[in-house]
Amino acid sequence: MFSSIKRIVLNNSRLSIYNISPTFTFRCLPTLVTTRKNSSIGLSTTHLDTQSNDFEVLQDSMEHDSSLPSFMVGYKNGFLPRQDPLVRLPDKFHVLDLLLQKMPIRLQSGEPGLLAKGELGEAVKDLPLYDVSNITDQRLLSALFRDYTFLASAYLLEPCDIMFREKKDFGLGRQLLPKNIAVPLNNIAKKLYAFPFMEYNLSYSLYNYQRVNPSLPITYPNLNLVRAFAGTPSEHGFILAHVAMVAHSGRLVQWTVKTLNSVEQQNRLNFNNALKNLNDTMFLINREMEAMWKRSNPDDYIKFRTFIMGSKNQPMFPNGVIYEGVSDAPLFYRGESGANDSMIPCMDNLLQLTAKMPNNPLTEVLKDFRKYRPTNHKEFLDYVQRRADKVNVRGYAIQDANSATLYLENMDQIRAFRNRHWNFTKEYVIKNTAHPFATGGTPIVTWLPNQLNTVLKQMTQVGQTIDYSQLTSENKIKFDEILNRASTQERILKREVEYLKDLFGESQNKV
Ligand code: HEM
Repeated sequence: MFSSIKRIVLNNSRLSIYNISPTFTFRCLPTLVTTRKNSSIGLSTTHLDTQSNDFEVLQDSMEHDSSLPSFMVGYKNGFLPRQDPLVRLPDKFHVLDLLLQKMPIRLQSGEPGLLAKGELGEAVKDLPLYDVSNITDQRLLSALFRDYTFLASAYLLEPCDIMFREKKDFGLGRQLLPKNIAVPLNNIAKKLYAFPFMEYNLSYSLYNYQRVNPSLPITYPNLNLVRAFAGTPSEHGFILAHVAMVAHSGRLVQWTVKTLNSVEQQNRLNFNNALKNLNDTMFLINREMEAMWKRSNPDDYIKFRTFIMGSKNQPMFPNGVIYEGVSDAPLFYRGESGANDSMIPCMDNLLQLTAKMPNNPLTEVLKDFRKYRPTNHKEFLDYVQRRADKVNVRGYAIQDANSATLYLENMDQIRAFRNRHWNFTKEYVIKNTAHPFATGGTPIVTWLPNQLNTVLKQMTQVGQTIDYSQLTSENKIKFDEILNRASTQERILKREVEYLKDLFGESQNKV
């Protein structure tokens, strides 16, 4: 099966990359049912944009204030933390800090670390059970969350990594998280309104970077990684390529709010301007994403991916994980995934695409993913969805042929993101392993196409509402290009998914 997967992936990605040239309440933890609005955590309105209706976007990031949550959506920081992540833990946590430094398969010195030889499990026995109950400093809590989640995932998945290196099979993970990790991790997670498990925003990606030169902006060459599992250049590139993309998200937030305001004011000029700027921002984000190919070698991904797998919908944890000293019942969490990034959900909600996703179990998983993100991100995304529906962004766009083309261009950016992303998944994952589930526990062949296909179909639908004769000559060219590409991609995707579903079989129906 494996060699045929390899063949189809290669053939089809060549097709798609070269020929087509694609230009609730928050957390489910029973103890954590609280929502906190910015206004209720003591922020003065001078720091907030109260024009943005019922959500308050941060005007400045208040980088010196560690009493506020690290993740608050802002015009400057976008979806990145307000303050750069804390890199080193205070002396009190010396043993934890040292353990994390000695953990990666390959240390900075080039020597093998604890995970290289399967020695982490034994080393964890010397970790004190730190008392974290009195900590309120949000920056420290965030750094501790990152570090305990790295340690927890490394501990639970160490046997799987060793087995995968030898046999290309994961086997079983450790089924019990010892109390010296489980208890402080659970306490910190409660304070952050998070699940006690590794997460994209709060740990693996967006809370795991350091600026080389703190006075220079957050760009890829100015970034270093804080924590690692493998310690390889490809892991460094994979994680920091995400950060470099999200560094553009301040503008995304800004133009999202302006788009909503302009529809509410029925101001066509401002609306078109906001859509144009949104499109330019998404173009930059997509261009940054394209650099993944050179920043992280596709054949290396599966060498560090084991450690970001979850305990939900994964055969390595058929009965979940027991958190010693926390819960006698096993716990199940989705693994770290870019699916928890907030940029694409923001665009989906703004353009009212979320409601167009098919009513099926795959879309239910998309909704489930939205619980795995910082509270304030979730509030922002809910706000964008609510307000876009209220003012009817799509309806306003299609009333005017040229606004509709700008709307279509933005959909095309979402398409470009999801299509490139599908190409990543074929090249980095499906080509190299027959494991049927992605890190977040989704079926590897069917889940991503569920959303990509919806976007492609919606583009055709919007195209049908546009009166071609009303378009400027420049927009006629754009319109033709965008819709031709979308219909070709729809055909290719259908063929690829049918083929791959046959190879992967029944597993793809499990979500
Ligand atoms: C080598 C690069 C990448 C690979 C192999 C990859 C793989 C995947 C996979 C397999 C999923 C399915 C969900 C799951 O984890 O269970 C996913 C979802 C997702 N990833 Fe990635 N990813 C990559 C890079 C990125 C980057 C750079 C971003 C940027 C933020 C990103 C954002 C997303 C998003 C938004 C989703 C949800 C997709 C949707 O809503 O349709 N990924 N990723």
